[in-house]
Amino acid sequence: MNATADPAGQPAIRVQGLEKSFKQLKVLRGVDLDVARGSIFALLGSNGAGKTTMVTILSTLLKADAGTALVNGFDIAAQAPQVRESISLTGQFAAVDEILTGRENLVMVARLRHLKDPGAIADDLLRRFSLTEAGGRRVATYSGGMRRRLDIAMSLIGDPPVIFLDEPTTGLDPEARLEVWQAVKELAAGGTTVLLTTQYLDEAEQLADRIAILHEGRILVNGTLAELKALLPPAKVEYVEKQPTLEDVFLTLVGARTDRGPQ
Ligand SMILES: Nc1ncnc2c1ncn2[C@@H]1O[C@H](COP(=O)(O)OP(=O)(O)OP(=O)(O)O)[C@@H](O)[C@H]1O
Ligand SMILES: [Mg+2]
Repeated sequence: MNATADPAGQPAIRVQGLEKSFKQLKVLRGVDLDVARGSIFALLGSNGAGKTTMVTILSTLLKADAGTALVNGFDIAAQAPQVRESISLTGQFAAVDEILTGRENLVMVARLRHLKDPGAIADDLLRRFSLTEAGGRRVATYSGGMRRRLDIAMSLIGDPPVIFLDEPTTGLDPEARLEVWQAVKELAAGGTTVLLTTQYLDEAEQLADRIAILHEGRILVNGTLAELKALLPPAKVEYVEKQPTLEDVFLTLVGARTDRGPQ
């Protein structure tokens, strides 16, 4: 059996000194981070910060210029096929087929992966993502939240130990976001490692065990929500102690280092 290359206790993802440029544009300038197994890690950053670039490199779809990364113990450069077997990537834009029903989408992917009993796999995922009733309907009739949940369900076929979710809730209404959050929490509770990117600070607050802020090519901070909040002193408002929100931390750090001049 081709077991994972790393002993237990090693992080699911280890990134060291990752660099990537597009021509003169230096997008990643030496990124380091570890993601513990079974945890949810949120990579925060503004538009163009390089979040999708990171996820694309870790999924082996794009080559880094320098640095190394291990995913599920496999080197993204030297062991790309093993990395691909270990992961799934749910992109920034949903990849479901509108003409097919939800169930047919799932069955199709299970067949493509040569799994036994695609129908049972589809039914199980529909149940896990509260799509059983909608499963027989064409995806064209689904709401944004249902599509997203189906998209994430599709990426779980084959039980990859590591999943990448690139902006899983962008464009969703609050209720649909809650549904996706619930699905992501259940994944991590089941032992899957989740690396998600987001621009929504409350999403990171709600979901992530650890949060890193990617800004101007580097990780500015990396820690638990409590650690990040401890970076700013609590603001005193009369007798009520107000903790800084993650938004305060983000804007202070990012704002302080962005050369935009006075706003
Ligand atoms: N294939 C490419 N060729 C040239 N430039 C690219 C390419 N891919 C990304 N870029 C540039 O790299 C920078 C980072 O892009 P990336 O998509 O990684 O950002 P992001 O953090 O995912 O942003 P968003 O929040 O808007 O999704 C941007 O300036 C983008 O224009
Ligand atoms: Mg992106």
